[in-house]
Amino acid sequence: MYSRIVGTGSYLPEKVLTNKELESMVETSHEWIVERTGIHQRHIAAEDESASVLGAKAAERAIEAAGIDKNEIDMIIVATATSDRLFPSTACFVGKKLGLEGVAAFDVTAACAGFVYGMSIADQYIRTGNKKNILVIGTEVLSRILDWEDRTTCVLFGDGAGAVVMSASEEQGIMSTHVHADGSYVDLLYSPNIIRGQEEGCVRPKVFMKGNEVFKVAVRTLSSIVDETLTANNMTREDIDWLIPHQANIRIIQATAKKLQMPMEQVMVTVNEHGNTSSASIPLALDKAVRAGTIKRGETLLLETFGGGFAWASALLKL
Ligand code: UT7
Repeated sequence: MYSRIVGTGSYLPEKVLTNKELESMVETSHEWIVERTGIHQRHIAAEDESASVLGAKAAERAIEAAGIDKNEIDMIIVATATSDRLFPSTACFVGKKLGLEGVAAFDVTAACAGFVYGMSIADQYIRTGNKKNILVIGTEVLSRILDWEDRTTCVLFGDGAGAVVMSASEEQGIMSTHVHADGSYVDLLYSPNIIRGQEEGCVRPKVFMKGNEVFKVAVRTLSSIVDETLTANNMTREDIDWLIPHQANIRIIQATAKKLQMPMEQVMVTVNEHGNTSSASIPLALDKAVRAGTIKRGETLLLETFGGGFAWASALLKL
């Protein structure tokens, strides 16, 4: 028995914030942001849009694309760093919005790697025959935890949600997943929670990032997890149709593609339109490509991601 992605969905808030608009908020320029990150714009959630609101909308679309009844879903996994409440889980809020009472629901905290971590958990449940149809959602309202006066972080992130339905199948879907973390880097990229934030004298939400240092480790680590994934499957880059990387910075994406000798035509890029949406970035890019008909059923995809923790992960699959 395998697990396979049988439906994808995504949701982006209506409001778009361009680099030009940011120029009137902090000392920055469209040119600097594009040159250093590749970002042109990002979406910003409305006041009444929480992570679960965005996540439920993406999930509804994924269920519709999967062509199953929502009552066939038997587990909800939500990856988010911007949960509706400290507890209960955002997955419980999504379950409530979808009207799925009694269905197992929990969140995964692995920052930008959360969605692929979630996929790896879903894969285990399905392959062992425990569950049949699992919703895996990545959803973020990062705009709520940004310091809009800090130009080194506020220009980088955006809001959005992406989801997949993973189902039991006799046909091979997920080939392997790989998950790693190294807590020695907890202080290079983080956001304090309310309690610790007050203790640390952080009076409003904020993302702390030593961008340069994160960048270097990200490039090195992503290259190594890509190698690890191909080796584990006895494959080479010629066997991969599409690379779907976490969308943090176009320069990191290009560096990983170069290391893999993968032409950029085979790399999904959405960072220009969405900014860094953390756990939502991979399912957003995947859904966009599937709906546009760019990625087709039967093709081989390599997903790779890196974020706070540091935590990093990859998945190799046939769609
Ligand atoms: O998603 C999780 C993983 N996250 C990442 O992978 C992010 C990794 N890091 C990065 O993407 C990049 O390090 C950044 C995009 C965050 C920054 O790019 P950089 O090329 O590393 O720039 P820098 O931090 O070295 O800053 C260069 C200069 C600095 O000025 P000085 O000290 O050289 O005078 C900054 O103060 O650019 C300045 N700067 C800005 N200037 C205009 C920083 N932010 C801005 C800004 N607009 N928004």
